[in-house]
Amino acid sequence: MEGWILYKQRQSEISTEKYEMNRFLEVAEKRRISLKILCPEQFDLLVNRDGNKSVIVDNQYTSLPQFLLPRQGASTPYFSLAVIRHLERLGVNTFNSSQSIEIVKDKLYTQQILAAHNFPVPRTMLARYPLNIQLIEETIGFPIVVKTISGSQGSGVFLCENPGNLDDLMRLLDTAKTQANLIIQEFVKSSKGHDLRVFIVGGRVIACMERISRNGDFKANFSRGGEVKSFPVNKEIEWLATECARVLDLDITGIDLLFDGESFKVCEANSSPGFKGIESCCEVSIPDAIFDFIKIRLGLSI
Ligand SMILES: Nc1ncnc2c1ncn2[C@@H]1O[C@H](COP(=O)(O)OP(=O)(O)O)[C@@H](O)[C@H]1O
Ligand SMILES: [Mg+2]
Repeated sequence: MEGWILYKQRQSEISTEKYEMNRFLEVAEKRRISLKILCPEQFDLLVNRDGNKSVIVDNQYTSLPQFLLPRQGASTPYFSLAVIRHLERLGVNTFNSSQSIEIVKDKLYTQQILAAHNFPVPRTMLARYPLNIQLIEETIGFPIVVKTISGSQGSGVFLCENPGNLDDLMRLLDTAKTQANLIIQEFVKSSKGHDLRVFIVGGRVIACMERISRNGDFKANFSRGGEVKSFPVNKEIEWLATECARVLDLDITGIDLLFDGESFKVCEANSSPGFKGIESCCEVSIPDAIFDFIKIRLGLSI
């Protein structure tokens, strides 16, 4: 089996700290899968009618792999999407598809699709400038969470306890002349400082963990130093997470669920979830699960 990973760095630049890339390479080698990590800058694309000789990698026409694993998640730039779409058109099996990556890059669009399918989601609105703080107070209610439309690792996510905090944040953005698209979201209080990450591959729950922030932060991201522990999956978690993946057409995803009393709300879906945290607390090999699934999708036995 032969595959490519599309990543932000080329294979020769990947350090030992890049946990996921090293795990993919290590497991691929063990399973005799020929795996190459490529970055968008290595590609030239030719658009022609039959697709013949239309992919150039490092200045050479290249044969196509059997599968492509895009691994840039929410930071997938236009150029990468163009590469993924090109390879899809040439028949390369892509997990996830360019379309699903584009959808979940946009947190508002994701929430719109999930809400339209009756999933429990936090009340969410798109910020319009100048902000109507009174309307936000009436419709969402403080505290609120303010998020950039696209982001990961908790870096674009803020908590505003009261209207004054929101006003301060908006003045700061205004002064910095930042015109970012932001969403304003209900703060799901019972999830403060902890949440669930459910890892889905090919419609199955592969692992589930609770993430708990260590420093009193309301954000539970593992990459921010959160503690992680394996969490038992019940029917509700299983259906919420697998149905989200299905509706968003994600073959491989990490679904974030917020604790909402005895139930859950869907926070977001990630198209290229990290797995250092989940492999450290659950007995699972994510690259093996992904390669098994790809083999099935390529019509090979595992
Ligand atoms: N509406 C919310 N209510 C409570 N906590 C939230 C809410 N939205 C996000 N969080 C917390 O912030 C973290 C990061 O938010 P998320 O939308 O997943 O952004 P990122 O894409 O950066 O991970 C979540 O894992 C969760 O712990
Ligand atoms: Mg998240």
